Amino acid sequence: MVILGIESSCDETAAGLVEINGSLDCLLLSNVVASSMDLHVQYGGVVPEIAARSHIEAIIPVVEEAITPMGWDSIDAIAVTYGAGLGGSLLVGVMTARSLAIAKNKPLYAINHVEGHVYANFITSTPLPDYKLPSSPPSFPCLALIVSGGHSQLVLFRDHFDYTLLGQTQDDAVGEAFDKVAKIIGLPYPGGPSVGKKALEGNPRAFSLPKAKMQNKYDFSFSGLKTAVLRHAQAACGQDFTFASRLLPEALTDPQKADIAAVFQRVAIETVVDKTLVAYNEFSPASVVIAGGVASNHELRSQLAERLPIEIAYTDPKLCTDNGAMIATLGAFKAKLNQSVSDPYSLVIQPNLSM
Ligand code: KG4
Ligand code: ZN
Repeated sequence: MVILGIESSCDETAAGLVEINGSLDCLLLSNVVASSMDLHVQYGGVVPEIAARSHIEAIIPVVEEAITPMGWDSIDAIAVTYGAGLGGSLLVGVMTARSLAIAKNKPLYAINHVEGHVYANFITSTPLPDYKLPSSPPSFPCLALIVSGGHSQLVLFRDHFDYTLLGQTQDDAVGEAFDKVAKIIGLPYPGGPSVGKKALEGNPRAFSLPKAKMQNKYDFSFSGLKTAVLRHAQAACGQDFTFASRLLPEALTDPQKADIAAVFQRVAIETVVDKTLVAYNEFSPASVVIAGGVASNHELRSQLAERLPIEIAYTDPKLCTDNGAMIATLGAFKAKLNQSVSDPYSLVIQPNLSM
């Protein structure tokens, strides 16, 4: 079976093709991503209206390029992200998928974006160059740490379509915290890669930052950490809490910025690894997978390797950030395992969809 996946929940317009066989092995056939990130850099974050307009321009060329290896006749079904995400952005992908499902007479599968991120780890082979993939799919039970710009979740998958959400962020996502800290110290958007790079020059133990204590031990909170970074930055340049944050990039020295990046990254990553380790000890999963944009963070990978008594098979960074292939992969399992299809005449977006 060959599945086309369409993704447009944030600032990436993406489509991918995945083939699934009788043994449920997934082969990546194409993965096309057009990002409007460059247009958002000057604002330091995604501007929803600009993202939605960019999706409209990009979606047809992206889908056309993605289906090139096979052509419509060989495609068995269409999968599309219908939530969670930005309303205007989701609408473009969902309306495109609905129209294509009707015009090409293909079954349509509605995909939860966060669940989709996890399924990037089920792609195990590809004829495409420059992809580093795990050699086998994750075994169940599987503990999934989902860390992106919009989500921070710990989920226990007992099997396909049988999972429990152990905990999630109660405010900012971890990637969002990276983006906000980057803005405070004047590093470019997206903040994850730029904070990670700056952190290499700093001392991760230069000062301390607090970790939030949550009622549910698997929940996260990053807004207090971000505020603590802001207060530290203001104090570091001899100012109090009334000092405008937009003036901080000018007022801070380069070594101060590097230390802030290093300490913040250590504490943010420690927080997610602490909880992953507690969940690992409680549930003894057969595998652990990491999904979402922050999964490519080096500090996360090294802390996990150091502290978790199980080896993690990472997928390619191109499949960690938003992409259509992960949506196609979850769609492929839905199609193969007889999950229900969506009505192409009535599928609606769900911007606040949870797991
Ligand atoms: O999964 P993704 O592409 O989009 C969402 O679904 O949110 O994740 C984007 C997020 C951004 O917040 C970005 O700063 C973060 O992932 N990110 C990273 C790294 N690369 C991307 N965070 C930390 N370290 C990285 N290397
Ligand atoms: Zn995402």
